[in-house]
Amino acid sequence: MKRLGILLSGRGSNFEAIADNVAAGKINAEIAVVISNRPEARGLELARARGLNAVCIPSKGMEREAYDRLVVAELKKHQVDLVCLAGFMRLLSAYFVREFPLRILNIHPALLPSFPGLDAQHQALEHGVKITGCTVHFVDENLDSGPIIVQAAVPVLDDDTVETLSARILKEEHRIYTEAINIVLSGNFRIEGRRVLLTKP
Ligand code: GRF
Repeated sequence: MKRLGILLSGRGSNFEAIADNVAAGKINAEIAVVISNRPEARGLELARARGLNAVCIPSKGMEREAYDRLVVAELKKHQVDLVCLAGFMRLLSAYFVREFPLRILNIHPALLPSFPGLDAQHQALEHGVKITGCTVHFVDENLDSGPIIVQAAVPVLDDDTVETLSARILKEEHRIYTEAINIVLSGNFRIEGRRVLLTKP
């Protein structure tokens, strides 16, 4: 059974969706550990309530690579095969990325490469796009970069606020994160340049 490591910093709704799908047998893996860089993260509590290994490694005041070494050590201790960033508000060092080659996923609430970084839904509203969405991609050491695995489009409605748009996107996030995890766990893909191409089992 493959082992997932979830990294989060806050609310943890993507973690919950993944955990629900693991429990329902829709993801053929187990959650080995949930790690937060913030002690107050709701996601950490949710993980504990589910009886999962939930670890806080505070990042405050730490240098990037020194911090990443602690996180990588924790992931290895739990023999994690695939790392899922789920609202983890930190850029990963080249060291971290090298330790898990093509084994780190992230979800972003926009159709990358549009609107990388913080407040992607606000950025989309401000720009006036009519369609936005979400993206699951492999993580490299650059922000919201790395080959794209799955995307979903979401319409922007005239009366949308950041809240209503974010909620519509979040529903799709919860769906496509599981889809992307299953693609990567299956190994039925290859990468050509930046393109992730599905292959037959
Ligand atoms: C999501 O919108 C995700 O796309 C972004 O951070 C947010 C995390 O939400 N990377 P949650 O903690 O999973 O509820």
